[in-house]
Amino acid sequence: MKKLRDNVYWVGTTDWAIKYFHGFGYSTHRGTTYNSYIVKDEKIALIDGVWGPFTEEWLEKIAEVVDLAEIDYVICNHAETDHSGGFATLMQKIPHAKFFVSAKGKEHVYKQHHQEWDFQVVKTGDKISLGKNELVFVETPMLHWPDNMVTYLTGENILFSNDAFGQHYASSSIFNDEVDITEVYQEAIKYYANILTPFSKLVVKKLDEIQGFNLPVEMIAPSHGIIWRDNPMQIVEKYYHWASEYAEPTAVILYDTMWDNTEKIAHAIAKGLAAAGVDYKMHHVVKSDKNDMITDVFKAKGVIVGSPTINSRYLPTTAPVLEEIRCLKFAGKLGATFGSYGWSGESPKLLQEHLTGSKFEIVQDGLGIKFTPTEEELTKCFEFGKSFGERILAEFEKK
Ligand code: FEO
Repeated sequence: MKKLRDNVYWVGTTDWAIKYFHGFGYSTHRGTTYNSYIVKDEKIALIDGVWGPFTEEWLEKIAEVVDLAEIDYVICNHAETDHSGGFATLMQKIPHAKFFVSAKGKEHVYKQHHQEWDFQVVKTGDKISLGKNELVFVETPMLHWPDNMVTYLTGENILFSNDAFGQHYASSSIFNDEVDITEVYQEAIKYYANILTPFSKLVVKKLDEIQGFNLPVEMIAPSHGIIWRDNPMQIVEKYYHWASEYAEPTAVILYDTMWDNTEKIAHAIAKGLAAAGVDYKMHHVVKSDKNDMITDVFKAKGVIVGSPTINSRYLPTTAPVLEEIRCLKFAGKLGATFGSYGWSGESPKLLQEHLTGSKFEIVQDGLGIKFTPTEEELTKCFEFGKSFGERILAEFEKK
């Protein structure tokens, strides 16, 4: 248990060991937390829960603050199992408690747990009194599930934002002013890039709507990672920035290689980017973490993808990150492709089609090199990288 305020407590759990989330869909190098909060007033409210395996530890934490039987209200901002898993056990112990949830949240929670609780469906603007202070609800559908909502505590001016503004970051501290903020931001942008990118337009709309309530915000308490206590609006400003076709004047090269020739091309292209004055990152798509690659794609204006041709296509190992790129619906990215080949050489064209299908603007024709690149061909690769880099910089000069 840790205190946010005299009457507000963190009763979450810390998962140092988890290295993958969503099955194996999201890497969590720095672990995570499942944040849950108790608000003590004339009524006692519990906000958000934990993943099932952490239920016993969570119940012990709650018991440090209140007797379970004293909990009047349970607030479920989001039904995904990392937050609702523990409710199945908790609600059997406190069947008297009213369970506040969005309409979609009720459906999602019920279909996961198949238990009848005292569901109280709330919508944007609904309030409940705790005595001295109130809880105000704002629905945030598709950020990132249809059921999501956030809860605001008046008087203490705390926004319980659930997944929004969160980070998969385990720590012995719970506030942003007590941790290495560089690490926190790395996890926050990774979360945004990998989860929220497709919903960026909605993010802006919803942030505007929440700001429109003119509620003072002294703390933002998400459901993962640290609580934004020092200058909480800094993460809101970052979300506005990230949601607005965020891009740095940099490039990422994603490639796989069979006999090093495509890798040689990649390095020659990289030298060209550097000559243009553009910083870049390179990822061998098999050896790099998929979510880290996506984070770098999110940050960079330009993405160059390379693969040798095999069986008249590109290497299948290139496909997972390409699929992820397509699903995340990036906007405003520039793209180019390359690859070595032995006889037919379809790969750059097919990779280009994939990037076009992902709404990338292809700024130069794909580059194919037959077998081992000669010095003359490496110069061509260098020029390919240089012209791509110059195009990136030109985009920023336009602004
Ligand atoms: Fe942290 Fe969408 O669950």
